[in-house]
Amino acid sequence: MAKKNQTLGEFIIENQDSFKYTSGELSRLINSIRLAAKVVNHEVNKAGLVDITGAAGDTNIQGEDQQKLDVYANEKFIQTLTKRNIVCGIASEEEDDFVAINSQDENNQNKYVVLIDPLDGSSNIDVNVSVGTIFSIFRRVTPAGTPVKIEDFLQKGSEQVAAGYVVYGTSTMLVYTTGDGVNGFTLNPAIGTFYLSHPNMTFPEDGSIYSVNEGNYMDFPQGIKKYIKYCQEEEGERPYTSRYIGSLVSDFHRNMIKGGIYMYPKGSRNPNGKLRLLYECNPMAFLAEQANGKASDGYIRTMDVEPTELHQRVPFVCGSKNMVDKVEEFMSEFGE
Ligand code: AHG
Ligand code: MN
Ligand code: MN
Repeated sequence: MAKKNQTLGEFIIENQDSFKYTSGELSRLINSIRLAAKVVNHEVNKAGLVDITGAAGDTNIQGEDQQKLDVYANEKFIQTLTKRNIVCGIASEEEDDFVAINSQDENNQNKYVVLIDPLDGSSNIDVNVSVGTIFSIFRRVTPAGTPVKIEDFLQKGSEQVAAGYVVYGTSTMLVYTTGDGVNGFTLNPAIGTFYLSHPNMTFPEDGSIYSVNEGNYMDFPQGIKKYIKYCQEEEGERPYTSRYIGSLVSDFHRNMIKGGIYMYPKGSRNPNGKLRLLYECNPMAFLAEQANGKASDGYIRTMDVEPTELHQRVPFVCGSKNMVDKVEEFMSEFGE
């Protein structure tokens, strides 16, 4: 039972038993993500200072190289999960291939793999606009104590056991699901603790916000073009409001709270869309469905797409259920 103002630590312990595989391993894993999120948050908050603190050259005061924040976030999440010996493998948007973690060691009984977009919306860093981290967790399909394999990562989204995101915004929030609804925790930066601020988050069934990069309009499939025109028509609740931050995490977060739809369709420049199935679309789709929303590629459920490669891209439509249904109607009527 989600109690407002509970700390994330308390919430994890209290809800551990309601999770179907109750070894505590998943709880430890979420705890590690919480820790890495705090470390990355600290660095993201200093983003505007990098040039000042790094003025002596390319190194900071400790003599470490100043790094781009997406590389930094990638390292912190991988380091935290590796050092705490908590998963058997990680796949990241920032790595060419998956990373195995002692998975060949027969004493290593860790059964989870993590897929991660360490810094989502990274082009927004330079302009002080919200960015995020997205994560997706699966049980490995190969036996524990044997080398982790590509098939452990190429699982359908419907097999996820947990997923979530951190949004580094006006306040920092960690929002996640283990398949039993969606809960949001806000960081109190003064004491470094996340508190349950948004229990049982849900998308309104209908919404009035559409989020899409309309600069690509000419390139969109007919079904999407018609849907955008439908959003702009004056009738009933329409025209809808257009809001596009350019950080999937932030656009999703706003749409979940207020009611809306996010779209990244395919186009000639992005023949399969831009977003990554495994690091972005699947985790957001799991959250959306757990929050009474919906996610699809315009035709089929995102979490039913069979992955064929780690960095696979797919068109993505996600948000309030009735709005996603409407896009699917337009896609089946007007198509590409
Ligand atoms: P990332 O920073 O991880 O590469 O992801 C950026 C993604 C997503 O967050 C955002 O909604 C989208 O790319 C923006 O793309 P456009 O600039 O093409 O609209
Ligand atoms: Mn991203
Ligand atoms: Mn990224």
